[in-house]
Amino acid sequence: MTALRLDTAPGPALRGRLRVPGDKSISHRALLLAARADGRSEITGLSTGLDVAATASAIAAFGAGVERSSPTALVVNGGPARLGEPPTIIDVGNSGTAIRLLAGWSAGVAGLSVLSGDASIAGRPMDRVVEPLRSMGASIDGRAEGRFAPLVIRGARLHGIDYALPVASAQVKGAILLAALSAEGQTTVRETTPTRRHTEEMLSAAGADITVSEGAVTLRPSALRSIDVAVPADPSQAAFWVVAATIVAGSDLLLEDVYLGAGRAGFVTVLQRMGADITLEAADPDRRTADLRIRSAALQATEVAGPEVAGLIDEIPVLAVAAAFAAGTTVFSDAAELRVKESDRITTMTSELRAAGVAVVSHADGLEVSGSAGAPIPGGVIDSHGDHRVAMAVAVAALGASGPVVINGWEAVATSYPGFEEDLHRCRS
Ligand code: S3P
Repeated sequence: MTALRLDTAPGPALRGRLRVPGDKSISHRALLLAARADGRSEITGLSTGLDVAATASAIAAFGAGVERSSPTALVVNGGPARLGEPPTIIDVGNSGTAIRLLAGWSAGVAGLSVLSGDASIAGRPMDRVVEPLRSMGASIDGRAEGRFAPLVIRGARLHGIDYALPVASAQVKGAILLAALSAEGQTTVRETTPTRRHTEEMLSAAGADITVSEGAVTLRPSALRSIDVAVPADPSQAAFWVVAATIVAGSDLLLEDVYLGAGRAGFVTVLQRMGADITLEAADPDRRTADLRIRSAALQATEVAGPEVAGLIDEIPVLAVAAAFAAGTTVFSDAAELRVKESDRITTMTSELRAAGVAVVSHADGLEVSGSAGAPIPGGVIDSHGDHRVAMAVAVAALGASGPVVINGWEAVATSYPGFEEDLHRCRS
């Protein structure tokens, strides 16, 4: 286990430009769609994290040709005719997105596939994908009657369904749509709370027969054409720097080419509501990207609840850090989904922010953070609980601490952002 020690007070301001890693959600989908598409797809700007590397290995194990030309670029030679039974267990590591999307993706691939991952994956709910995939005719099993990984899938003839998502989940929506590519008849997925739309957007770009309307997506079985994807920077990673530059006095930081499409930019709205100074520059409406410029600012507490939560669920750990420096008490609710992420983030963010000297109260569906109104927090010894976003959120909190912060289990950041520490040094020098 590695530890990161940050002894920053009074810390230098964050300045200059950063390009955070490629978007994780888009990277997974680019690989999975490229493997299904006939011909050669080129993907650039790919996420450098272990999660996406697991998906790249998975499609190769299923038979897609994967040639890496740099850490962030690869070529996939794909097509249904290339895909078949993988010779080994597919290990997704820590990636919930990989295992859930692959469950749907592999349900129509002939042969047996076994999907497994680390201890965190083994404890995360899989029934949310298993149940709708079974109703499409998938042969899929797992521990506890399919509630948990490992998942064992035997490729079967699938048929379309009309399914209303019981939990707001882009992973479940994505898994069903990927299975629907090879199902007989049409599939409709309905959602009452909008979630990120990458699967729909990218299926459409790959020529799938897809119709998207308010609250529903309908897909008919489709062959895909190869896609070249230039993956934009990940807003969920940008969020760490947006909060960091906001709380460290004198900062003026530019984050390049950040994806800000539907279901991903909610944290910007919340931080602006709290008083953050964030401006969008060089917006590209076609790619749904912009550069984010952040200057430090004083923050006020807010309430984060209701439908807004799904669009910023991954950013709540770092928004809790923003709340720790705001004036007043910020309340996060309707966020019980946090309990089934890489760690139980209600419990882990409560314990770790408390360990850094922040007053936090947890609830069944959220947390309440009492802010310091800009004053430094004490600091302390933190445990990442193997959760990349907990580790990075607390590293941001450390920038506003008067005492040292030691983050044990720092290696968890490799899941999504192996270069985080390097980027921290880059924008503070
Ligand atoms: C993701 C969707 C979200 C998010 C996860 C990535 C995706 O999960 O928390 O980090 O790429 O579809 P849910 O869909 O389960 O809410």
